[in-house]
Amino acid sequence: MATELFFFTSIPNLPFPLIKFPKHHQSLPLFSLAPPTISSRFKTVSSSKARPSSSTVVVHAVQEEVVQTPNSDSKVTPASSSKLVLVAGGSGGVGQLVVASLLSRNIKSRLLLRDPEKATTLFGKQDEETLQVCKGDTRNPKDLDPAIFEGVTHVICCTGTTAFPSRRWDGDNTPEKVDWEGVRNLVSALPSSLKRIVLVSSVGVTKFNELPWSIMNLFGVLKYKKMGEDFVQKSGLPFTIISLCIYCIL
Ligand SMILES: NC(=O)c1ccc[n+]([C@@H]2O[C@H](COP(=O)([O-])OP(=O)(O)OC[C@H]3O[C@@H](n4cnc5c(N)ncnc54)[C@H](OP(=O)(O)O)[C@@H]3O)[C@@H](O)[C@H]2O)c1
Repeated sequence: MATELFFFTSIPNLPFPLIKFPKHHQSLPLFSLAPPTISSRFKTVSSSKARPSSSTVVVHAVQEEVVQTPNSDSKVTPASSSKLVLVAGGSGGVGQLVVASLLSRNIKSRLLLRDPEKATTLFGKQDEETLQVCKGDTRNPKDLDPAIFEGVTHVICCTGTTAFPSRRWDGDNTPEKVDWEGVRNLVSALPSSLKRIVLVSSVGVTKFNELPWSIMNLFGVLKYKKMGEDFVQKSGLPFTIISLCIYCIL
């Protein structure tokens, strides 16, 4: 059953809960990039009726089958050996938070990165059992070999590029290529046994022709994100789409 949740929150300091790390994770530069979200739209095909708590969107999406109280101040969730979460875009602002959260909960993850070196820079040296890294560019279907998805139970796609032309578009890494073609390639490569794909997207994708979203969409970013979302929704896989925004414009 598909459900759609809207929730808007005012978050005084950080948009994500502070995570207590075991000692060996304390060196993670979690907030080296600006964390996102003031409000989020949360779509899911989960039959769970529980609303996500205000500031734990990404974590909750992954955790719904794992822990009941991901924000507990006092407990670190025990290892969940049956889960292997592939994170695409784990070097980005949101992706870093996702990976750090998985590490803090001892959930195994596999990163799909264009530059695997970034994993060591961001997350330090990790046990290979805990954090694996694969080199891959979602624009290139050949990089998305089935071996990458072996044993993967959940996928979180945090890839993206800038909405407006910038150096990050170098090499044709444009919204069309990343938010549409990359997402399509990734979803097409996923095994049907996958328990869930989580796509980190954006608010405004359904209104990209209307002000103020049409400004953000001048180079098509919202249109291409919508195409990516639609592809996920039609994939037949259990999915969650998280719509982020920095500024709440309704
Ligand atoms: N942050 C916000 O406030 C906000 C607001 C609304 C929507 N969103 C959306 O939420 C998602 C995550 O945002 P973010 O702020 O974390 O983005 P980000 O910091 O720009 O990170 C993007 C990630 O995608 C990766 N990537 C880019 N092109 C790729 C490709 N061709 N193949 C594989 N990986 C690629 C980047 O890897 P490299 O390190 O190789 O570049 C990076 O890890 C994006 O889709 C963004 O549009 C974010």
